[in-house]
Amino acid sequence: MSVILVTGGSGLVGSAIKHVIETEPEGSRFGKKPGETWIFARSSDGDLKDAAATKALFDKYKPTHVIHLAALVGGLFGNMKYKLSFLRENLLINENVLNASHEGKAQKVISCLSTCVFPDKVTYPLDETKIHSGPPHESNFGYAYAKRLVDVQNHAYNDQYGSNFTSAIPTNIFGPHDNFDLEVSHVIPALIHKCYMAKKNGTPFVVAGTGKPLRQFIYSRDLAKLFIWQLREYNEIDPVILSVGEDEEISIKEVADSIVKAVGFEGEYTFDTSKADGQFRKPASNKKLLSLIGEFKFTPFDQAMDETVAWFLQNYDTARTGKK
Ligand SMILES: NC(=O)c1ccc[n+]([C@@H]2O[C@H](COP(=O)([O-])OP(=O)(O)OC[C@H]3O[C@@H](n4cnc5c(N)ncnc54)[C@H](OP(=O)(O)O)[C@@H]3O)[C@@H](O)[C@H]2O)c1
Repeated sequence: MSVILVTGGSGLVGSAIKHVIETEPEGSRFGKKPGETWIFARSSDGDLKDAAATKALFDKYKPTHVIHLAALVGGLFGNMKYKLSFLRENLLINENVLNASHEGKAQKVISCLSTCVFPDKVTYPLDETKIHSGPPHESNFGYAYAKRLVDVQNHAYNDQYGSNFTSAIPTNIFGPHDNFDLEVSHVIPALIHKCYMAKKNGTPFVVAGTGKPLRQFIYSRDLAKLFIWQLREYNEIDPVILSVGEDEEISIKEVADSIVKAVGFEGEYTFDTSKADGQFRKPASNKKLLSLIGEFKFTPFDQAMDETVAWFLQNYDTARTGKK
């Protein structure tokens, strides 16, 4: 019998894991296995910044396995403005979850890092060995150091207690249940919301920058399967980058084209080249993942975009849009 507790279970990634566990055939590689109970916790089930609330959550469910996704997550603006909050809240959440997992004798924990916590000055492509090899970008050092420390904690827990605590490093994620708030969200949900507003108001759809930078995007439901794989089939402490390949980088223009198609926007569509582009590429290697997982099929980008936009349109009133 196993109890898998997913912290951050109501967010973009947590909802995707719930979807996959509930829709993949029972007993299949990514489906629910006999004897498994999955618990998807949100912040109202317990504030993980608080040690007592975290302990109470763990005492209630007694998880044998933990997928730890809960975090203070934000776009560039939030990260730049609230560095101490991003550092403190994530340090507290991670410390409490790992300590409660250890005290509750959880057999395995996978925590979630991000490719944006890698050093600013680094040789590309990024790989799992380079997380600590230089300071992070100044704009997100609070979030980055808190996340990096999880890898240090995992090694220390293993060293001192033999714990099986590891981590995953996803690239840019998108999908249903994302945060579509225009002020604080990541590029894909922000552009979907902007394009939707342009269609609704009959105004131009303006994309910031030249559209030329390249990025790797992973569909949340593909990422969910990779987390389930890592939970069941990966037993090292070092992290694994969970991403599409470097050959599947796409430009911001290709992203915007896909959004225009999925939203059915037929108005004026332009790029505001007076806005900064950011770094041209920051490719991450998924070689380690591919060498371990065997066969895995990523969802084609346009299909993933269609599903995400369909979800956004159907759930506009309740989605995180910053309008409520
Ligand atoms: N989004 C990306 O592109 C991206 C890329 C790389 C890595 N990641 C990482 O992936 C993980 C999941 O991110 P996401 O995009 O799914 O985030 P999200 O949609 O913003 O969800 C965050 C989740 O964390 C929960 N949470 C936040 N603060 C909490 C607290 N103090 N106590 C308990 N729960 C709390 C939220 O609960 P409520 O909904 O109840 O508030 C929510 O379920 C994070 O660790 C993030 O760093 C994200």
